[in-house]
Amino acid sequence: MIIAVDGPAASGKGTIARALAAYFGLPHLDTGLLYRAVGLTLKRAGGDPASEADAAAATGFADGVLADPELRTEATGALASRVSAHPAVRAALMARQRAFAHRPGGAVLDGRDIGTVIAPEADVKLYVTASPRVRAERRAVEMAGRGLIADVDAMEAEIRARDARDMGRDHAPLAQADDADLLDTSELSIDAAIQRAIALVEARVKRHHTE
Ligand code: CDP
Ligand code: CDP
Repeated sequence: MIIAVDGPAASGKGTIARALAAYFGLPHLDTGLLYRAVGLTLKRAGGDPASEADAAAATGFADGVLADPELRTEATGALASRVSAHPAVRAALMARQRAFAHRPGGAVLDGRDIGTVIAPEADVKLYVTASPRVRAERRAVEMAGRGLIADVDAMEAEIRARDARDMGRDHAPLAQADDADLLDTSELSIDAAIQRAIALVEARVKRHHTE
């Protein structure tokens, strides 16, 4: 079973993907980390995010960078969003993601284009979203937990800018697949969102069996 979870920044897709993986006993890949690793590697090499050649060179990142705490910052998220618009970067990361999706037994992947480009054949597709304000507040809470002061208005502006870039790009833009189930978590607690996601997966699986 392949489960594709897509959605914008801080929608809760990672939390939901991890919970589904644990519940259904599947491996999980956060594909955003790959693009973040490219962004951080480019920055450390002094590269220009607007240069496709610089960004493509950074796709040969060392696996150690995947555990770097700087990977999680909003600045790295914004860099990831810039390098991920280059087709050469998306192409370089594709084989790794497809191989993960096709592991025997299945997998859960979360990102922007899993249900549309990486695994259009996925058995279940969820499009997880929430209002920009709620997403900004969630990121602010996360930052407070790390002892950082977050300005919710500034965070909301950053999230809106990243949405616009991810949805507006030419290659693999963020979009809900035609056959994806929509899950708006704006008004849902984490537990309620996870329960709803499990119910959506089970309903899809039941439908596949009766088709
Ligand atoms: O966790 P958050 O949603 O903030 O971001 P992420 O999933 O780590 O992704 C960071 C950036 O990588 C996104 O803004 C996208 O531009 C890019 N990305 C992508 O293009 N395709 C994916 N499958 C995953 C991430
Ligand atoms: O992966 P993505 O960037 O879409 O989001 P996430 O990292 O799963 O969730 C972003 C933040 O929102 C985390 O701190 C979650 O604990 C929180 N969250 C929430 O408050 N309510 C939800 N229904 C889902 C996530």
